[in-house]
Amino acid sequence: MGFSPVFKTILFLSALLSFMSVSSALGQGQVVHKCSYDVWCAVVAGLPSNIKSDASVTWVQQAPGQLLVSDFQNVAAGDGIAMMCTRDPTASPVSVTQLEYTWTEAQTSFDVSVVAGDPFVNEGFSMTATDLAPQPQFSNSCRRAYCAPGDANCNDIYDKSNDDYQGMRTCSNDVVINLTLCSG
Ligand SMILES: *[C@@H]1O[C@H](CO)[C@@H](O)[C@H](O)[C@H]1NC(C)=O
Repeated sequence: MGFSPVFKTILFLSALLSFMSVSSALGQGQVVHKCSYDVWCAVVAGLPSNIKSDASVTWVQQAPGQLLVSDFQNVAAGDGIAMMCTRDPTASPVSVTQLEYTWTEAQTSFDVSVVAGDPFVNEGFSMTATDLAPQPQFSNSCRRAYCAPGDANCNDIYDKSNDDYQGMRTCSNDVVINLTLCSG
């Protein structure tokens, strides 16, 4: 028994939509630094808040200006990703500044967190959000964050875990998020 034309159309549309949803998240997390010393970074899933210097985290040495990238296309929708950087990956716990993001079909939630340490507080850092498909509902929440050198109580980020009101950002899932450490 054959499918009706309407049912075939529905099948076609749902196949098209599932194809589009797989390929639609063009966003990217980027971390760079302008520090005068070596910086070690890692990309991990699960948004850890207390990072141990164990083998489960692969630290990569980053030269100034070297780009660390996490493509949304390589991350499952709904997975929490932390791009974290430290001055000393051998400490325990490791003190890290983190760019955290979670993308879904509807939006990307992201923030900068120093809940697990603030190793770049003296040199400052800044995050930009470049939305390739800006949407009106994110006009207030899709924005940058900036922490001046020496600002230990920065109002743009998570200083503690309940800082949603100041730290949380939302954009579309086509946003390029750039965290620059030691931005001055
Ligand atoms: C990220 O932002 C920094 C500081 O604004 C800038 O120097 C750098 O070129 C940006 N990197 C990319 C890949 O956009």
